[in-house]
Amino acid sequence: MKIGILTGGGDCPGLNAVIRAVVRDGIDGFGDQLLGFRDGWRGVLEGSYMDLDIEATRGILPRGGTILGSSRTNPYKRDDGAQRVRETLSQLDVEAIIAIGGEDTLGVANRLHHDGVRVIGVPKTIDNDLGATDVTFGFDTALQIATEAIDRLHTTAESHHRILVVEVMGRHAGWIALHSGIAGGADVILIPEIPFDIDNVCRLIQHRHDRGRPFSIVVVAEGATPKEGTMEVVASGVDEFGHARLGGIGTRLEQEIEKRTGYETRATVLGHVQRGGTPTAFDRVLATRLGLAAIRAAHDGAWGMMASLQGNAIKLVPLAEAVAELRQVPAEEYERLGVLFG
Ligand code: F6P
Repeated sequence: MKIGILTGGGDCPGLNAVIRAVVRDGIDGFGDQLLGFRDGWRGVLEGSYMDLDIEATRGILPRGGTILGSSRTNPYKRDDGAQRVRETLSQLDVEAIIAIGGEDTLGVANRLHHDGVRVIGVPKTIDNDLGATDVTFGFDTALQIATEAIDRLHTTAESHHRILVVEVMGRHAGWIALHSGIAGGADVILIPEIPFDIDNVCRLIQHRHDRGRPFSIVVVAEGATPKEGTMEVVASGVDEFGHARLGGIGTRLEQEIEKRTGYETRATVLGHVQRGGTPTAFDRVLATRLGLAAIRAAHDGAWGMMASLQGNAIKLVPLAEAVAELRQVPAEEYERLGVLFG
């Protein structure tokens, strides 16, 4: 079979491990011919690709990013998007696509499936917010990086008696903030699911001071927002999927906390550091298992399905289920952990 692979959306540690697994098993196990579309759906629209063989994927397992490149291109933003996808596939004799991505890339995959394109999905995102899978690869790596950063910032916070605000990624879901905050012993954790009360944040910080702890760590997800009307935030532009370009809440909190408490406050924005570099062993193994499941699914003709982690097992679920609803932090989980704040 001739199969095309693509990686879309934000890069994520483990993408190359999926590509390697698909190529290895595709060629050695199934006798397939593989090619990689460049820069996500843009490569399919423009017919831009590279041939993938064992040699092309040698040594990529521990490498971050994606050898195929990525973009946030949405074919459905163009009038003839689906038609152009079908034309490219027919010109190149590609019979199916394995799309590795998050909610946007897989949302497109799901629509294309309904428009008659043979597609299999593989979930990825450091945000860990895709439905129908217990975990996405990339999350574990991002979590390690964020936790290590919090550990390092702790020493400065304590030595200088400062409030240190750490802004981590997480557009709609606070998994990175919550887990790195808990692992790093943060005093305040703010997530997109639950609008925060700045008065309460300052109260927790003051409470620590009153108990002889004149420093605090505040972990905030980039998508966290204040309760309406309580604090001004800066608006930003949007991408092809309509998502705001985030980043800025950490700095706003820095200003607001210092103004309200009088304590020296500094913000650190971790940004793309969380997405870069080598994947953890957990992410490499998960990505490899998902890649192997995807190539098998293609040979089973399981079109419109996505490989997913359910407990310890890799299972196939409909793409539609994966993109129906984001997996966010449940309010009860956040509230239960709140006992550790302050
Ligand atoms: O979706 C993953 C993610 O890392 C989000 O946490 C973040 O909001 C977004 O990508 C940033 O995307 P970009 O690198 O395109 O600005």
